[in-house]
Amino acid sequence: MSSTGAGRIPVCRPLLPDADTLLPYLRRIDGHRWYTNFGPLAGELGRRIADRLQVSPSRVVMAANATAALTAVMMPHGRLGDGQPPLALMPSWTFVATAHAAETAGLMPFFADVDPASWQLTPDIARAAVAAAPRPVAAVVVVSPFGAAVDLAGWERFGDETGIAVIVDAAAGFDTAGAGRLTTVVSLHATKALPAGEGAFIVCPDESHASETIRRINFGFHGSRDSNVVAGNSKISEYHAAVGLAALDQWPARRQAYRRAIDGYRERLGDSGICLQDGVGAEWVTATLVATWPGAAAAAARLAGRQIETRAWWGNGCHAHAAFAHCPRLPLPATARLAADTIGLPLSLDITAEEIDRIAAVLREG
Ligand SMILES: Cc1ncc(COP(=O)(O)O)c(C=O)c1O
Repeated sequence: MSSTGAGRIPVCRPLLPDADTLLPYLRRIDGHRWYTNFGPLAGELGRRIADRLQVSPSRVVMAANATAALTAVMMPHGRLGDGQPPLALMPSWTFVATAHAAETAGLMPFFADVDPASWQLTPDIARAAVAAAPRPVAAVVVVSPFGAAVDLAGWERFGDETGIAVIVDAAAGFDTAGAGRLTTVVSLHATKALPAGEGAFIVCPDESHASETIRRINFGFHGSRDSNVVAGNSKISEYHAAVGLAALDQWPARRQAYRRAIDGYRERLGDSGICLQDGVGAEWVTATLVATWPGAAAAAARLAGRQIETRAWWGNGCHAHAAFAHCPRLPLPATARLAADTIGLPLSLDITAEEIDRIAAVLREG
C-alpha cells in the first residue's frame, strides 16, 4: 500500500469506510463489550454474506484472514510431524499465501500449470497432474486469478469422480464467489474489493464442515473446552467485522466505482493489443486489475519512469520462491508466459479519468 505524492500514481490506494461511517458499529461493540470470539458483528457479517450467496448461514465461517482460513480448511487433509506430507495440487500462478497455507496445514504444494486462456487450473489439468503425481494428492486448491469466476460445476464433478477434496482460493473473488458444494475462501484484506482491513470468510459445503472449520480456527474448541484437533486461533475480531459490515453497506457504490474505472481502461486500451481479463468490468469487478501482452515488462519500466507504479502481483509464480524450491512441480510454460507478460495496473475506487488517461497514453506508446 502506498501514499500519493504529487503526480505519482500508486498501484493500489485502498479506501476503507471512514471513522464517521464506522461509528454506529463501534458503538455497538462498546454496548456489547464483546470484542472477538464469534461476537454479534461477526455473526451479522456472516449472515449477510450467506444471504448474498443464498446459502444457510450455518455454512459461512468468518476468519481473521484468507491465509489462516486456507490453512484451517486444509488442515484436515494434512499430516503434521513425521513422514512425508500428502500433496496439495495447486497452480504455481497464485500468491504465495496459497502455498504457505498448505505447508502450515501439513501438506506439500505440488505445482501445476494453468490454462493459458483462463489462467486457472482446469479439471483436465488436475486429472493429468494427479496421474503424474509422485505420491497421493490429498487436496486440489483451485485459485481464482485476481477475482475471476471458477468453474464450480466442473470442479464438483472432479471431486465426485476422484474423491479428492477441492478447495477454492477465491481470495480476490468477492464479486464472483459462488456457493456450490465446494469449500471456498474469500479475503477481506484492505486491498480487496470488499475490505475489512484484515478478514476472510469461508463457505463450507455443509454444516458439519463448518463445525470442523470452526474448531480449526478456535484452538480445537467447538461447543466445549475439549481440544481434539490441532488448530490455530484465526477468528475475526469484532472491530474488523465492523469495518466489513460498513464496507458491505457501501458495496453497490464500491462495485460501480470499480466498474467505471475498469471500463475506462478498457475503452482507452481498445485496439492496443493489451488484454484485460475476460469480462472484467462489465461482468465482474476486482480491486486488482492486471493486463497481459508481450510488451508488459517494457511498459512497466516506461510507467515507472513517469511516476506510475505497477506490480507483478504473482511474480514468477510460487515455484520460483526459495520457500517452495523443495516442492514437486510439473512443466509450467503457461505460468512462465503469464509471469513475463502480466502487470498489475493502478486501480482504486477514486482513480480519476485523468489518471487513467495518463496511464493509457504511456501504455499505448509501446
Ligand atoms: C490468491 C490469494 N490467496 C490468498 C491470499 C491471502 O489473503 P489474506 O491477505 O486475506 O491472507 C491472497 C492475498 O492477496 C491471494 O491473492
